[in-house]
Amino acid sequence: MEERVWEVLCSEEVIETRIRELGAAITHDYAGKNLFVVSLLRGSFIFAADLVRRIDLKLKVDFMTSSSYEHGEETTGQVTILKDIEEDLTGFDVLVVDDIADSGLTMSHVMKHLKGKNPKSVSCCVLLDKPSRRKTELVPDYIGFAIPDRFVVGYGLNYGDYYRNVPYVFAVTDEKR
Ligand code: IMP
Ligand code: MG
Repeated sequence: MEERVWEVLCSEEVIETRIRELGAAITHDYAGKNLFVVSLLRGSFIFAADLVRRIDLKLKVDFMTSSSYEHGEETTGQVTILKDIEEDLTGFDVLVVDDIADSGLTMSHVMKHLKGKNPKSVSCCVLLDKPSRRKTELVPDYIGFAIPDRFVVGYGLNYGDYYRNVPYVFAVTDEKR
């Protein structure tokens, strides 16, 4: 991978601007509600951290881990919850935050699971959306950027468990350096 050319899809500046917009929209939509942000680990840890700081409301945050692309680039189609949230969701308006909606299986499964915990509402927000890959009915409520069907890395997204710390989103091209 190191010898391939990295193509920046979302720069730091573009991400920051878009997250301010998402934060403003969520602040507007959840005013007077009881917001509970559920961040899906590990991919959304950077996005969620930046997003909640742009939401000007009293809110709670908790984390969940579900299985995803652990062995390569393709999903197995099966979603399992490895770590559930610890708090009671009764009466809360839940916003599930993830790095990317690809097949949509992860988000659909997690939202269904959380709906079973008696919240008032469950919506979702993803930094990136690959709508052409969808295998479910999922239409995310908040989307940072719709992108083509490319494997993307950085800003929380991993490749072989590395590159999460790269502060922008990039795709790996076939070009050699
Ligand atoms: P889905 O269940 O197919 O929607 O996949 C969602 C999960 O797959 C995300 O939370 C990511 O962890 C992972 N994923 C999907 N596409 C990419 C990608 O392009 N780069 C890195 N991870 C990805
Ligand atoms: Mg993930």
